[in-house]
Amino acid sequence: MRTTVGIIGAGPAGLLLARLLHNAGIASVVLESRDRAYVERRQRAGILEQGTVDVLREAGAGARMDREGLPHDGIELRFARRRHRVDFPALTGGRSVTVYAQTEVCKDLIALQLAEGGPLLFEAEALAVEGAESENPRVRFSHQGREDTLVCDYVVGCDGFWGVARTAVPEHVSRVFERTYPYGWLGILADVPPSHDELVYARHDRGFALLSMRPARLPPPPFQGSRSAPLLSAVTRAYLQVPDGTDPGDWSDDEIWDELDRRLETDDPAWTLRRGPVTTKSVTPMRSYVHEPMRHGRLFLAGDAAHIVPPTGAKGLNLAVGDVATFARALIAYREKGDASRLDTYSADCLRRVWQAERFSYAMTTMLHRAPDATPFDDRIQLARLDRITTARSAETDLAEAYTGFPLDQQD
Ligand code: APR
Ligand code: PHB
Repeated sequence: MRTTVGIIGAGPAGLLLARLLHNAGIASVVLESRDRAYVERRQRAGILEQGTVDVLREAGAGARMDREGLPHDGIELRFARRRHRVDFPALTGGRSVTVYAQTEVCKDLIALQLAEGGPLLFEAEALAVEGAESENPRVRFSHQGREDTLVCDYVVGCDGFWGVARTAVPEHVSRVFERTYPYGWLGILADVPPSHDELVYARHDRGFALLSMRPARLPPPPFQGSRSAPLLSAVTRAYLQVPDGTDPGDWSDDEIWDELDRRLETDDPAWTLRRGPVTTKSVTPMRSYVHEPMRHGRLFLAGDAAHIVPPTGAKGLNLAVGDVATFARALIAYREKGDASRLDTYSADCLRRVWQAERFSYAMTTMLHRAPDATPFDDRIQLARLDRITTARSAETDLAEAYTGFPLDQQD
């Protein structure tokens, strides 16, 4: 098999890249080790920066997101029983975010790729990337019980943290920067409307809690005669900081709601937590990780294959989108104008944005989570950082700008 761009992985990075290349008339093949149902079921984060929304729209993949996504103009910080709203448009000159699940982004991109794009092979596992430094890098893969080779002009490793692409970068070239955290997130989806109309990030002596939501559809009223279900509501997505290695089965639904109630406590008598049936429960570990460089020869790394952020800043998906948009623009500039400079600076261009997201995600994580060995001094510093955000416009603006994301074009 031969193609221009071999893409390993059909997460948001690989799928969006295939779409961007297709729109520019550049051939690609996507290899995905899992089956379609698995990829479409996987629950991940759900906050799209303005720049991500713009890229998806420009790619012609934003129709359902525009119908069903929930625009959010702020978040609430909750600490020491206080509530503080961060107003994004007021602080950033009009920027905001959209709540739309990563899994829905993937479903939309898969449907487009299968209808209009190049080959997308499920249950096709990349085994190795070979010849990264040559003119024609190759991906060895297994599909339907057979081994095959995909010969490419470029290979883009979009195969997530556990993929194989990164291992093709020789050890003497690689540098890894890493930090693990002694806690994870227990995440739930619950069939109950959210208790607040924006996300709530809570710092509490018992640990961090986050109230989020997902768009939800209710069945159409019978008189409408339409088969598509209109968006009428949202359901609750929520997270609790839990010790590293926690089994989600250790927490009953009632224990989860009780703990959310405690960590979200406030003096505001108007606040109540709405409880409902928990439909999914899982635990996510927390890690910061960057692999440098993000390019070796004609192998490019994008998304989680190159970097991981803890989820507190909601940056993972947005970084993946930034990487592949950067690669697609660079390749298009090379093919249309013969200008290879943006391919050459791909790694440096992406890493500048990646490190800003690492900085922000680390700052949010350490400001809001309680480490098992936290001292009273650490607690006071966390509260002082939060107090600063609520009283100094410069500190609040810094948070709002990082949360809504910097326009991609500014990094070009
Ligand atoms: N061969 C083929 N596919 C592979 C291989 C392999 N050897 N290894 C992994 N994959 C696939 C995975 O099954 C997965 O579908 O690569 C895909 C990687 O997708 P993601 O993990 O979603 O990574 P990415 O597209 O970079 O998106 C980053 O995902 O983890 C979240 O928070 C993160 O939101 C961020 C986003
Ligand atoms: C989510 O809704 O999944 C979510 C929201 C905000 C975050 C992380 C995850 O910071």
